[in-house]
Amino acid sequence: MSQDETVTVAEGEARASVVEGAPWWRQAAVYQIYPRSFADANGDGLGDLPGVTSRADYLERLGIDAVWLSPFYPSELADGGYDVADYRDVDPRLGTLADFDAMLDALHSRGIRVVVDIVPNHSSDRHVWFQEALAAGRGSAARERYIFRDGTGTDGAEPPSDWQSVFGGPAWERVADGQWYLHSFAVEQPDLNWSNPEVRADFVRTLRFWSDRGVDGFRIDVAHMLTKDLSEPLPSAAELELIPRDGDHPLLDRDDVHEVYAEWRAVFDSYDPPRTAVAEAWVDKARVPLYARPESLGQAFNFDLLEADFDAAQFRAVVQENLELAAASGSSSTWVLSNHDVVRHASRYGLPHPARTADGHPAQKHGSEWLLSGGTSPVLDREAGERRARAATLFVLALPGSSYLYQGEELGLHEVAEIPDAERQDPTFFRSRGAEIGRDGCRVPLPWEPSAETAFGFGSGGSHLPQPEWFGRSAVSVEEGDPDSTLSLYRRALELRHALQTAESLEWVETGRADVLRFRRPNGWEVVTNFGGSPFPLDRADAVVASVPLVEGALPADATVWFGPVALRVGAGRRPDRRSGLVPRLDGLVRDGLAS
Ligand code: BGC
Repeated sequence: MSQDETVTVAEGEARASVVEGAPWWRQAAVYQIYPRSFADANGDGLGDLPGVTSRADYLERLGIDAVWLSPFYPSELADGGYDVADYRDVDPRLGTLADFDAMLDALHSRGIRVVVDIVPNHSSDRHVWFQEALAAGRGSAARERYIFRDGTGTDGAEPPSDWQSVFGGPAWERVADGQWYLHSFAVEQPDLNWSNPEVRADFVRTLRFWSDRGVDGFRIDVAHMLTKDLSEPLPSAAELELIPRDGDHPLLDRDDVHEVYAEWRAVFDSYDPPRTAVAEAWVDKARVPLYARPESLGQAFNFDLLEADFDAAQFRAVVQENLELAAASGSSSTWVLSNHDVVRHASRYGLPHPARTADGHPAQKHGSEWLLSGGTSPVLDREAGERRARAATLFVLALPGSSYLYQGEELGLHEVAEIPDAERQDPTFFRSRGAEIGRDGCRVPLPWEPSAETAFGFGSGGSHLPQPEWFGRSAVSVEEGDPDSTLSLYRRALELRHALQTAESLEWVETGRADVLRFRRPNGWEVVTNFGGSPFPLDRADAVVASVPLVEGALPADATVWFGPVALRVGAGRRPDRRSGLVPRLDGLVRDGLAS
């Protein structure tokens, strides 16, 4: 699409809904908490649910609409909690169900909704079902809950196929009696058998269990992998690659997975208000709407910005395509710059272009490799990365749809590269024998205070992943006192977002520069991002927030500014309890944000 085209995203039925009366999730700012690394209340070095509760005021002040909690269930932590030993309990190291209820109350009473993570493709090998399957032996009903097969070759000593797991290494593991089980991820994560009605019924029970406790929604882990066609003969890994992913692939994105989600939808809709869901589905773009349809999960992650450079053409293409896809599904789009699986965006954007070029998930792999080069070749430009990250976030927070934010990005945190191999936890590091550095660098416990003595305020018992000395400069208490900090910027932007949020559409406005994007929301809220090298002169003077100070009426490189008809929406936001006093505060915020 050329720069001089002016595109208005068509007003579909779904997107015609304005903020008033629209379901909360359509344009929410959702903050992802990785519970083991957020705040540690009991001083055992591992974050916990009382830790989240203790920071409820922080979350309220941040201005988010919802929290998404990565798994907090009992787990041996073979994959950061995505190996669940009991779907209907809390890991004792993280608290109790009573602690969960207290956390839910604390967040709900502050107007913050709560989304929990459901991991249905696989359980932990410590799950009682898997233990039963091992004990019960071949041919048993207990083994039918998982995917067990006899091996090939002499005495079945070879795996049933040559498939590789996502984390590296073979996807089959042999058990004592000689059978093999499938694990698409780590050895400790046996895949469940979604052809088995007992498995389906148990997950419905889990969804009801958390819905009955009051959770507002669910994030569905690898939602495209549950159902499988394992008819013999199994294709080889090379053959699998050649099978089109059009709904009938043996392992991925099968049409029949939507039978599962239709059943889940009935569960979600049996609650008032209906529970929501968002799919993590790594599928062909054209098939994303299948997951995002109202009769399926209702919303799906769009990870395209995770894989894009900080580049005007890439950002515009991603936004346009995803707004159209969301409209086709009747859902709203989702925007993600960082999460617990990828290198933090402040670091991605601070690396030279070749390191950031993406095709698949290379930002994670290549980004980490570059980071691990010791900062010499190439040098990570921390300041540029942070500046671009602020600009990208401000751009994204103004888009129609929901923004998913990852804990620590509001502090401008960089990836932590300096974790000794012996202290790494991510199975991708071990299963790839270090070829992939893994995801620990974005999972290091948050700094709340500048002093390293209390693990930077994380807790009195140290930190389960080592925190670098430079964390102190980005501590919450440090940034809170600095009107120019990234935390102050997020707070301003999130508060303004409530006031400015409008119907789910945008119009691109011609800028005359290939490296500058500008768009307008239906109420006149406008956003300009300068992805380029030279300042961009602005023709409006009613800026409400900017990622860096404006200079003589121009937007500097690597920066975003919002122009907003603030008065229009004041008092009409979704969270009236937070609205009082907004006008005077906005005046102050605008002044602080733009002072140069
Ligand atoms: C999660 C990862 C996890 C994997 C297996 C992913 O989509 O986001 O953190 O390792 O699923 O559960």
